Amino acid sequence: SKDQYILAIETSCDETAVAIVKNERELVTNVVASQIESHKRFGGVVPEIASRHHIEQMTITLEEALEESGLGLDEIDAIAVTEGPGLVGALLVGVNAAKSLAFAKQKPLVGVHHIAGHIYANRLEKEFEFPLLALVVSGGHTELVLMREHGSFEIIGETRDDAAGEAYDKVARTLKLPYPGGPHIDRLAGEGEESIDFPRSWLEKDSYDFSFSGLKSSVINTLHNAKQKGQELKDEDVAASFQASVVDVLSTKAVRAAEEYGVKQMIVAGGVAANSGLRQALEEKFAAVDTELLIPPIHLCTDNAAMIAAAGAVAFNQGHRAGWDLNANPGLDL
Ligand code: KG4
Ligand code: ZN
Repeated sequence: SKDQYILAIETSCDETAVAIVKNERELVTNVVASQIESHKRFGGVVPEIASRHHIEQMTITLEEALEESGLGLDEIDAIAVTEGPGLVGALLVGVNAAKSLAFAKQKPLVGVHHIAGHIYANRLEKEFEFPLLALVVSGGHTELVLMREHGSFEIIGETRDDAAGEAYDKVARTLKLPYPGGPHIDRLAGEGEESIDFPRSWLEKDSYDFSFSGLKSSVINTLHNAKQKGQELKDEDVAASFQASVVDVLSTKAVRAAEEYGVKQMIVAGGVAANSGLRQALEEKFAAVDTELLIPPIHLCTDNAAMIAAAGAVAFNQGHRAGWDLNANPGLDL
């Protein structure tokens, strides 16, 4: 039978990305134009700047992806695009590019949820076995998601305040590290000692929810108090102690959920899945249980369009189609 090619566009935050996936699981090309350098001096993503960069980069990224793949638009079976959640102005650029392409070439259009994309990044590496749980840890989301079949997402726990990545970025900012701070804290943590006993937010005994704002405040207060008392706190030790708290809660709840739901796989998704401490703790804990642990390679953890193509291909083959009224939805539910 004929090969199927899905082209996907992702512009929900600060990466303009285009990718092509073959037969649902085979990555053909994955182009990511990052804007991190433009946002760094503001210490975070500036929405208006993000939108403008997406407009500048959209066509270039698309042409690069097509050229790299050696495919023509006529050979593409469907166009998938992130419709939400994310920054509305940023999402609009991708959604309109996808609609224009689909309209001009008379191709089917598929809208994809950004988090479904992060989860499906794993399927480019390994076939899913249901039921599975996904630990989604990104800049905007921290969720445990139960999947009993393709395209079905049941949230069994989520953050009540800050997302894990958000906590990393806020603590990094307090330590005067550049944006995005996650990778910098990760590196410092590797050089420090867990000498500070930061709180672990377990919440109610049976809860799979998360909370990271108390931890963030505790780090800020500890730094403030040390400064007032003239105590020397090493940034490496603060980073190591903060990371230990985050990783402890995430990995402990993930294992408990895997056992309670008796899932075949635990999938880790989102930018914080790149964290070396989290990867190591999960590998150690899941070595002792029956659930298989899947963590994507780093380039598939942070935002990209390959994951949108992977999720979009499944949605397309399940018969999902978006109309010409497809719109950016910054608060889209999973
Ligand atoms: O998934 P992602 O690229 O964008 C969102 O959808 O939010 O995640 C970005 C987040 C940022 O908060 C960034 O600091 C964090 O992922 N991150 C990390 C690491 N690499 C990226 N956090 C901890 N350790 C890392 N190595
Ligand atoms: Zn993301």
